[in-house]
Amino acid sequence: MSTEKTRQVVEILKQHNQNHIIKYMQNLTEQEKELIENQILSIDFSQMSELYESTKKKIEIKENKIEEITYFDKQKLGNSKKKHLDDLGERIISSGKYAVVTMAGGQGTRLEHPGPKGTFKLDVYGKGKYLFEILIDNLKEANKKYGVIIPWYIMTSKQNHEETESFLEKHAYFGYDKNSVILFKQGELPLIDLKGKLLIGKNKLVKLASDGNGGTFASLRTSGALANMKERGIEWVFIGGVDNVLLKMADTTLLGLAIEQNVQIASKSIVKANPKERVGVFCKMNGHPKVIEYSELPEKMAEEVNSNGELKYGESHIMCNLFTIDAVEKISKEPLIYHKALKKNPYLDETGKEIIPQTENSYKFESFIFDAFPFFDDIAILRGKREEDFAPVKNKEGIDSPKTAKELYEKFWK
Ligand code: UD1
Repeated sequence: MSTEKTRQVVEILKQHNQNHIIKYMQNLTEQEKELIENQILSIDFSQMSELYESTKKKIEIKENKIEEITYFDKQKLGNSKKKHLDDLGERIISSGKYAVVTMAGGQGTRLEHPGPKGTFKLDVYGKGKYLFEILIDNLKEANKKYGVIIPWYIMTSKQNHEETESFLEKHAYFGYDKNSVILFKQGELPLIDLKGKLLIGKNKLVKLASDGNGGTFASLRTSGALANMKERGIEWVFIGGVDNVLLKMADTTLLGLAIEQNVQIASKSIVKANPKERVGVFCKMNGHPKVIEYSELPEKMAEEVNSNGELKYGESHIMCNLFTIDAVEKISKEPLIYHKALKKNPYLDETGKEIIPQTENSYKFESFIFDAFPFFDDIAILRGKREEDFAPVKNKEGIDSPKTAKELYEKFWK
């Protein structure tokens, strides 16, 4: 049966060089066809063409004017300056104008934990603590100190949303006020193969994947979470990752510094351990704050040293970022750049047969949280300390693993 909708879908697919899907759809039932057609109508094909074209270009950092970032060292602020900043920050938090967002939509592939990363149990103090529980402990401590309940927004992905929700329900939100915990889903983008063709998944639909943690801003707006923040009178929004067990989500010094410096964005950094550490680094590019991700930092830049003998691009981004609510709203309406990642992805061919690739066969596109920074003229950077601020759980073993995070966590709390 050929309906007007089918004709429209076929036309779109032909126009965008996706004829393999037209063939594939011939073997589907009417019901299956209906589902994939609706999905195809929701895809922005001109965006997908642009993304595919972008895979052919190399990122040329050299063409830009790059400078070192300026920062304030928390250890060297001096007592009265630190107190002044803490007072400024405390005023905002204790008056209920502060919210926290945790980005928990990642897949945690490197950790090889089957569920959402926040449900990973770190083996601390004998009985262990889940990553979500560790974050909640940090928020509860701040709530107690400042006499408030900080609203906590958790970004999930389509794949892990339900599991995240039922995990938190099962554990009664680890004692956090349920009305102050708001889950919202991040966006997705289709995967394409090396020739720009959409992949079909086992569920007989176009294969989609999370669009990266830069999607936080747009998802906050489209999900209604941003409106919810405004109703609560929020002025400052902290956005952090799920996997750093020493993350300080309500650092009054950082907040105070942002207020004092009269900037809309602020971030905590630590000194990069060595040129090869897998962290993004801060710089100024063409006069605007920027993070260059570890995967995109040229080796020569990574090793450059300044006159103090420190790595020139050594202020590491530890996903401890602060934004005014206006900044969040502004970025939520801006298109962020996408970064490509080559991945191995099984798919169905046009006859419906599953193909398991032996080598990387597809691109995944992700925007990054820090790609928001260049939209601003300045950023306040507060240099923290590794042993107080950074113990990530990234890999199953070795560097940044549960073992290293456990050691750092227990040492800090001792
Ligand atoms: C990230 C930072 C890197 C930083 C390092 C510090 C990015 C892109 N890179 O690298 O600059 O130095 O942490 O540990 O942020 N997430 C989502 N949705 C997604 C993808 C990720 O919510 O689609 C979340 C993850 O759950 C996690 C965070 O974003 O909380 C970081 O993601 P991950 O991909 O693990 O980044 P890293 O490579 O570790």
